Amino acid sequence: MLRWQTAGESHGQCLVALISGLPLGVPVDLDFINRELRRRQAGYGRGGRMKIEHDEVKILSGVRHGKTIGSPIALEIENKDWANWEDTLPVEDKPVPAEKQRPLTQPRPGHADLAGALKFNLHDARYILERASARETAARVAAGALAKLFLRELGVGVLSHTVAIGSVKLSRSARWEEIVAACQDGDAEIRCVDAATGAEMKQLIDRALAERDSLGGVFEVVAHNVPPGLGTHVQWDEKLDGRLAQAVMSIQAVKAVEIGSGVSNATAFGSAVHDEIGYDPAKRNFTRSSNHAGGLEGGITNGEEVVVRGYLKPISTLRRPLQSVDLNTKETVKAAYERSDVCVVPAAGIIGEAMVALTLAGAARQKFGGDTLEEVQFSFAAYLAELKAF
Ligand SMILES: Cc1cc2nc3c(=O)[nH]c(=O)nc-3n(C[C@H](O)[C@H](O)[C@H](O)COP(=O)(O)O)c2cc1C
Repeated sequence: MLRWQTAGESHGQCLVALISGLPLGVPVDLDFINRELRRRQAGYGRGGRMKIEHDEVKILSGVRHGKTIGSPIALEIENKDWANWEDTLPVEDKPVPAEKQRPLTQPRPGHADLAGALKFNLHDARYILERASARETAARVAAGALAKLFLRELGVGVLSHTVAIGSVKLSRSARWEEIVAACQDGDAEIRCVDAATGAEMKQLIDRALAERDSLGGVFEVVAHNVPPGLGTHVQWDEKLDGRLAQAVMSIQAVKAVEIGSGVSNATAFGSAVHDEIGYDPAKRNFTRSSNHAGGLEGGITNGEEVVVRGYLKPISTLRRPLQSVDLNTKETVKAAYERSDVCVVPAAGIIGEAMVALTLAGAARQKFGGDTLEEVQFSFAAYLAELKAF
């Protein structure tokens, strides 16, 4: 079973990911992991914090001579900003000088501040926001990069593109080759497959910045060359669509998840929605005329591309702060302002890729088993042969 967790606070020493269950022998390309971390930091609309952090991963365990050794892999990403926070949030129980104290008593609507303060009976929400912050997703992206390296060995690729920023929407679907090109583009910060729509998206982000406002939007993750048969229909919590939905929904600010064209399907006739089945005798493959189902039927991959969209609410921290109430005095105040991004949809797409890759890698581990990559590939090849012989 592939298992993984993260630890670390936004302004703590570092972020950590622990991932176990990858087989022995997966090639680990450090540059690739660091490139993924940079992609997360690069999205258009990000704020000052990302100018401080230049994330690089340190592998502490589980990889030797450039390959996984089958034991748990610990990953660490240093927080450069820790130097500015060490006195404010010391590990030891020691007094914090007055000028270093940075309590957050004016909870920001849309953040975990108030709910977390109530839950833990804290009159300062600092500990809450330190962990709720999306800075944590750097660790997810590092773990996701390992999942991608594993999936690559099975020929599966996972990428994302931006389909909406606020009201500016991509009005067509994107082919895999276009998504690959958008991701390779030097100007990949917005990652829209249509240049004109991408330019409009950037303009809207610039407007939100000028008006001291914020924006949400939609990213789409596509997993290419996924074999049929990952996931299962037999138990509710093992259905792969449900697992993908949880994985993507867990990303900070994502408030809805869509599989395929699930949202528009709901208002269409069935005849326009379901993907008719054909057969290609030359390739000995079942084919589909369309992919409205997003590659999943009954919680099982059906051999089409897996398509998952994440819908983000606008960023909650506004430069024009909303109304709040002080946790101590109960007076009406303006919500606190912490350095903030204006729009994070392109960056969230990279996190979406990581979450989808980790989920698919977990499903592939369940289906193909094995302790070594060689064993996984042996069982995978046998399965593909079985499909051809079907
Ligand atoms: C990559 C990324 C960066 C984010 N940066 C910010 C930010 O700078 N300011 C902010 O208010 N929210 C930011 N968010 C969203 C908050 O972390 C999130 O809204 C908050 O933790 C509450 O969680 P929830 O929206 O999932 O309920 C970011 C989200 C992501 C995915």
